[in-house]
Amino acid sequence: MGECISREEAFELLKKYNKEPFHIQHALTVEGVMRWYAQKLGYGSEADHWALVGLLHDIDFELYPDEHCQKAPELLSKAGVSEDIIRSVCSHGYGICSDIKPEHDMEKVLFAVDELTGLIGAAAIMRPSKSVMDMETKSIKKKFKDKRFAAGCSRDVIEQGAKELGTELDSLFEDTIMAMRSCEESVNKALEEYHA
Ligand SMILES: [Fe+2]
Repeated sequence: MGECISREEAFELLKKYNKEPFHIQHALTVEGVMRWYAQKLGYGSEADHWALVGLLHDIDFELYPDEHCQKAPELLSKAGVSEDIIRSVCSHGYGICSDIKPEHDMEKVLFAVDELTGLIGAAAIMRPSKSVMDMETKSIKKKFKDKRFAAGCSRDVIEQGAKELGTELDSLFEDTIMAMRSCEESVNKALEEYHA
């Protein structure tokens, strides 16, 4: 699929509106996770597209937290990003800050993993390794149940995401850990470059 915006242009666009390393890290992680899921679910030929949506999904969050998913269409269309990508970006806030329902598998994955990558990332930082490489599903199950841990990561959204995807929570956890393993090294490298 030919994209309206290259990966490099999309990353520049992200950095135009996001300066905090935490947001850059989240965008890069969701990008990599989306790429992994595209392969896993049989959409390998669309992997770049899935990844692009992941990279851009929170474009408006740092500058316009109160207008999340409302400001994104303007920022993205100004940069020449296509309507279908804008739609997918906005669908990840369904029920919270957007009324666009995730329909495509790609949109359902984005909805399901957005908060979950935050939860897994927060759990990874607590580990001696600071990594998801040696993380097991059962530790995320425990963190998921402990509502005080990473309280900002909505358990309801994650549960709803799993349901819409037609998957069990445990396998969503397991797959998303695998997905985060697949990109941890490249995300860390990109962040080092960002800091430099
Ligand atoms: Fe996000």
